[in-house]
Amino acid sequence: MTDIKKYILAIESSCDDTSAAVLCNAKVLSNVVATQEIHKQYGGVVPELASRAHQQNIVPVVHQALAKANIDKKELSAIAFTRGPGLMGSLLVGTSFAKSLALGLDIPLIEVNHMEAHILAHFIADENGTSPSFPFLGMTISGGHTQIVKVSNHFTMEVLGETLDDAVGEAFDKSAKLMGLPYPGGPLVDKNARLGNPLAFDFPKPKVDGLNFSFSGLKTSILYFLQKETQKNPNFVAENINDICASVQHTILEILMEKLHMAVEQTGIKEVAIGGGVAANSGIRARLKEAEETLGWKTYIPKFEYCTDNAAMIGIVGYLKFEKGQFTDQRVAAKARYAIGS
Ligand code: KG4
Ligand code: ZN
Repeated sequence: MTDIKKYILAIESSCDDTSAAVLCNAKVLSNVVATQEIHKQYGGVVPELASRAHQQNIVPVVHQALAKANIDKKELSAIAFTRGPGLMGSLLVGTSFAKSLALGLDIPLIEVNHMEAHILAHFIADENGTSPSFPFLGMTISGGHTQIVKVSNHFTMEVLGETLDDAVGEAFDKSAKLMGLPYPGGPLVDKNARLGNPLAFDFPKPKVDGLNFSFSGLKTSILYFLQKETQKNPNFVAENINDICASVQHTILEILMEKLHMAVEQTGIKEVAIGGGVAANSGIRARLKEAEETLGWKTYIPKFEYCTDNAAMIGIVGYLKFEKGQFTDQRVAAKARYAIGS
């Protein structure tokens, strides 16, 4: 890689966060995220509202990112953007904006796959963090994704398994909703679970072949369980909230860890890198630490702001692609379904 400094402006708009970041090579100078609060009242992301909010946010967010980085747009070397996967209306906003700005500034455009970016976020230069060595297993766990990927190098990735229905973050949020907790409920389930007994209630684990996941059955069994118990005792949820949260979280972690163990066994790779919003969960962190101590795994979790949807992770891929000369031409279109490696 050359020594000349590259300034990359990165744009992320695949779901409900409008984000822009400026990187100098692998170092993040700014990473601005506008989270769309409007979806809270609906208990989940409403695509049409997300797209409209991106249109309102994109210009101020980009301005802020440049200002915080103290970089003038004329200094930019390239613009990286999320091409997919994600919500079409949301992706279109970031894609059109990135294309126009690159054309106006006459600088290269770099398309980024959002799922690859979650994994390559581990290569952001960060004083406190170390990056995994190749080959490693990347597990992305968030509100929109659940995936285990074998990463041979920055640009060679193979999906080993993924969810067949709900994402793990959705499983947390939907379970929380059934308990009357506000959206997004994942962090609250985590908080309550710390005070409860994980073995208080037993929820069935799905039987899914290979390294794929399924979480929709769990939601249904929690629903039936809570209906049955509240018929007997209308205060059941309030009286047992900590134990219910601990048991739900325990079941979700068992499902995740079982597949992760299988992936390590199948590949013989013990470098395990986690990303996505659910990586904040204290239970998964404890399980990973335990695997480090007892099984000799090496585990990695980036800073939380690089785990949730953010443009800095798009920027690191932009930088890595810039160094390889992997640019995109102006005919590029957003791609709602966009598998890793395709
Ligand atoms: O990566 P992210 O921002 O999601 C997408 O935009 O896809 O992550 C958000 C998800 C939500 O489902 C949220 O409930 C979950 O991550 N989450 C957690 C925790 N913190 C965030 N789930 C469990 N425990 C947590 N501590
Ligand atoms: Zn994401």
